Amino acid sequence: KKHQSRNKLLIGKNVLITAGPTREKVDPVRFFTNRSTGKMGYALAEAAQEMGANVTLVSGPVNIQLPHPNINLISVTTAEEMFEAVINEYSMQDIVIKAAAVADYRPKVIFDEKMKKQDTNLQIEMERTKDILKTLGSTKTDQFLVGFAAETNEPLAYGKDKLRKKNLDAIVINNVSLEGAGFGSDTNIVTYINKDLTEQSLPKASKLDVANEILRLIIRDMKDERV
Ligand code: CTP
Ligand code: CA
Repeated sequence: KKHQSRNKLLIGKNVLITAGPTREKVDPVRFFTNRSTGKMGYALAEAAQEMGANVTLVSGPVNIQLPHPNINLISVTTAEEMFEAVINEYSMQDIVIKAAAVADYRPKVIFDEKMKKQDTNLQIEMERTKDILKTLGSTKTDQFLVGFAAETNEPLAYGKDKLRKKNLDAIVINNVSLEGAGFGSDTNIVTYINKDLTEQSLPKASKLDVANEILRLIIRDMKDERV
């Protein structure tokens, strides 16, 4: 198996990863979601597990097999369910990586019956969901907190802004308009930026290789903070 000889750098560490999209229902047969497939989050869970961590994976609806039976999978559907699951687990964690693409809005009303079509236009009122990562940032104790940012425009500037506003220790920025990066792809091209605004651009690689590199950078930055 690949990576067999990789050092077990995360033995004894609790690592929480969120992955995939969320789904926000509007009626019994329809929902709002996004293009996330969960591949990056599942790759992170696999890489962390291979490094010896105790991994909790909070996952939205995806079509991926759990990469290892020892990974503690918590399946959720909505942004609100993901919020509850993550907040419940937060105090036990050493590292939290939020790779999930969480819905920013949900329908204000969920209809009990299937909505019937009308002759006129339809407007659906949407309300904001909770920002899970921002809540984690504002209640952080010792956790090393890592966000993801999927951007199509000015990725580094928007990413740094999120790093600061959400009180993160690092952010992984994904320019989803590049070929071979982002949603659904088996490869990714990311830039990792830590709190000191040190930028590390990783070359295009498989999501598992990118995951291993991200974890190595996190471990490097966790060590630096202890000196
Ligand atoms: N995130 C979250 N809860 C939300 C929305 C986002 O935890 N309700 C997290 C994502 O998991 C990701 C990070 O915040 O790690 C950045 O998500 P992104 O969608 O890029 O940023 P937003 O803050 O939602 O801003 P915008 O969508 O306007 O760019
Ligand atoms: Ca968003």
